[in-house]
Amino acid sequence: MSWRSSSVPATPLLLLITSSGLTFVIGALTFFLLSDFYHHSVLVHESPHQRLDERFYRVLPVDLIKFPSNCSEGIPASDVRDFILDNIFDGTSPYEGFPSNETAGLTRKKRIKGWGAQAPVFERLIQEVQPKVILELGSFLGASAIHMGTKVRQLGLNSTILCVDDFRGWPGFRAKKFTDIRQQHGSVMLLPQFLRNVQFMNLTDLILPIPFSTMGSVSYFCQVGIRPDLIEVDAAHDFHSAWLDINAAYALLSPGGVMFGHDYFNRVNEEGVRRAVDLFAKLKGLRVEPDGKHWILRTV
Ligand SMILES: C[S@@+](CC[C@H](N)C(=O)[O-])C[C@H]1O[C@@H](n2cnc3c(N)ncnc32)[C@H](O)[C@@H]1O
Ligand SMILES: *[C@@H]1O[C@H](CO)[C@@H](O)[C@H](O)[C@H]1NC(C)=O
Ligand SMILES: *[C@@H]1O[C@H](CO)[C@@H](O)[C@H](O)[C@H]1NC(C)=O
Ligand SMILES: *[C@@H]1O[C@H](CO)[C@@H](O)[C@H](O)[C@H]1NC(C)=O
Ligand SMILES: *[C@@H]1O[C@H](CO)[C@@H](O)[C@H](O)[C@H]1NC(C)=O
Repeated sequence: MSWRSSSVPATPLLLLITSSGLTFVIGALTFFLLSDFYHHSVLVHESPHQRLDERFYRVLPVDLIKFPSNCSEGIPASDVRDFILDNIFDGTSPYEGFPSNETAGLTRKKRIKGWGAQAPVFERLIQEVQPKVILELGSFLGASAIHMGTKVRQLGLNSTILCVDDFRGWPGFRAKKFTDIRQQHGSVMLLPQFLRNVQFMNLTDLILPIPFSTMGSVSYFCQVGIRPDLIEVDAAHDFHSAWLDINAAYALLSPGGVMFGHDYFNRVNEEGVRRAVDLFAKLKGLRVEPDGKHWILRTV
């Protein structure tokens, strides 16, 4: 006879009651935790949108983080300038007959302002890469493009410099130092002023504007096979824009090419540019090489 049956004869019954009670409690708790009631009442800080987002992330197609990596070989560097003139400018240089009297009245001979546009990294990389085609994403008034053009000329190179910019600036840019840049019927005179600046600096044979969005332009270049050997990224600085620009542009680089960009160290860009650069480098197994306020990534 065991101590159990003799001293506590009712234990098996008690255990049965307790375990079913426990099952009930656990079941009820699980139901409660999974219920909308819990989500609405306890997790009040979590909005219905956030919960929708979570469901969305679980089913994200991989395409959303996949960028083209097989851009066409397409166009020899020496033909890139003519290709752009033919296919983007209907065969007529944007500098031809420029400025018209009307445009001259709306712009200044020279109105250049950039950010870190004279940094030593430009000359260092141009010297190192000896680029045939340079791509700039984000040109504004052409300060950095003009600096690169000047260095290209000084080094006796003949690089084609493509400057992608929608030439709209960004919402609110006029409120600061650029109210003198005229606006007419909703169009700000950034492209004509860019052209005037390049013309003033005698760099029209090297520098061409590409007046479209960065993503659209880069996709087009990938498709037709414009493969720069030096790419500078300095367009919008929020994370998602920088992420798109960096991913899409890197695929364009010709073998041995180098990509670099501004605002790696600005505190305000920690969550934008730097996060995008670091994440991209990590995914690709690349090392970020800082240079002043710039970041550099090389092809492997
Ligand atoms: C910081 S400025 C470029 C400054 C220039 N690199 C310099 O230092 O002289 C950024 C430029 O990117 C352009 N930009 C921003 N987002 C763009 C986009 N998605 N497509 C085309 N241009 C864009 C703006 O119009 C603006 O002129
Ligand atoms: C890249 O590869 C994809 C899928 O294999 C193909 O559909 C696309 O046409 C290719 N693009 C180029 C530019 O070769
Ligand atoms: C520079 O390159 C362009 C094409 O990109 C060409 O038309 C021009 O003749 C070249 N100039 C010199 C001096 O080599
Ligand atoms: C532009 O202005 C100049 C000088 O004011 C004038 O001689 C010329 O005829 C004008 N051109 C046009 C197309 O109006
Ligand atoms: C551009 O060329 C003209 C004509 O040769 C010259 O007078 C002018 O000084 C040059 N401008 C610059 C900024 O080099």
